[in-house]
Amino acid sequence: MNTIIKSSSSNIALVKYWGKHGTQLPMNPSISMTLKNAITTTSIRWKELEKSNEQKVSLLFEGKNNHDFEKRLALFIDHITEYIPVLKNLKLDVESSNSFPHSSGIASSASAMSAFALSLIELEKQETGKISGFKDELQKASFIARLGSGSAARSIYNGYSVWGKTDAYKGSSDEYALAINSEVHEVFKNYHDAILIVSSQAKKVGSSLGHSLMNNHPFAAERFKQAENNIVQLKDILKNGEQHDYTKVVESEALSLHAMMMTSNPSFILMEPNTLNIISKVQVFREETGIPLCFTLDAGANVHILYPEDNKESIVKWIKSELVIYCSDGKWIDDEIKI
Ligand code: DP6
Repeated sequence: MNTIIKSSSSNIALVKYWGKHGTQLPMNPSISMTLKNAITTTSIRWKELEKSNEQKVSLLFEGKNNHDFEKRLALFIDHITEYIPVLKNLKLDVESSNSFPHSSGIASSASAMSAFALSLIELEKQETGKISGFKDELQKASFIARLGSGSAARSIYNGYSVWGKTDAYKGSSDEYALAINSEVHEVFKNYHDAILIVSSQAKKVGSSLGHSLMNNHPFAAERFKQAENNIVQLKDILKNGEQHDYTKVVESEALSLHAMMMTSNPSFILMEPNTLNIISKVQVFREETGIPLCFTLDAGANVHILYPEDNKESIVKWIKSELVIYCSDGKWIDDEIKI
């Protein structure tokens, strides 16, 4: 049996992807920062299928059988065999594990699907000696990762990437992400992300249901327009190193995402009282110190605090003295950009 091992990390969206259509195509472009410490490692061992009715994929997640995830992977493999035809006659034994605790409430589909896509592209290269149909390996990996989970398309790249067609970034596409680091000022290249675990519960709203809430949402058209405008604004901000303007766009995006959930049918309130306690402390701390830190949220109660490295010492001290009381079992994760 041949073996490949690949790792990939999670990412935090600055402009959010919320709403999709067709085969995992986004309703609006999104921009994210890839993280360093929240990693999934995937190993794939493969051999020729012996019988055509043999089970094609087996999965161990964190060393244990996980039938739901295994089924999802098997469907995914079926779906992408069109793009990686060599998979047709292979049996894959997959093992996947995360560097972050399963109960941390951290979304893992981005890192899991991007690590899996990177492994499959390497497998294609080793089996056929080439990567077919794309500009390069990473572009194809991002395309494949997207079919597994939209946000995973962005995790293929280090630093900042955009996924979704926008006139703001030449070469951007709904089908794969694009690295944009050459258009990002140095001040944004050492950012940290303190992930405050307000709730370690599994997500209340799964991603498929979540995105579908944007179908027939009364504010959908305006939201997609707003995201597009925020991409245009964030592009200039990232380029010119305007840290205070960054805080405005990033916080507004997080609140818009949650506003969409609160006004959908059915509606969801995913923030918890401690989410709001932390948000309020972040805004007061910024006001008092002038440090350009800000918060963002994904589709849950946890708060990501984004800040430049120069302020790390004072911010970590402040988190420990003022914010850990709002975290579940005092848990928070000290992460940073991977670039
Ligand atoms: C709120 O990528 O998890 O984190 O494509 O259905 O797998 P699927 O959804 P997923 O959605 C992420 C939504 C988000 C915002 C973002 O990461 O852009």
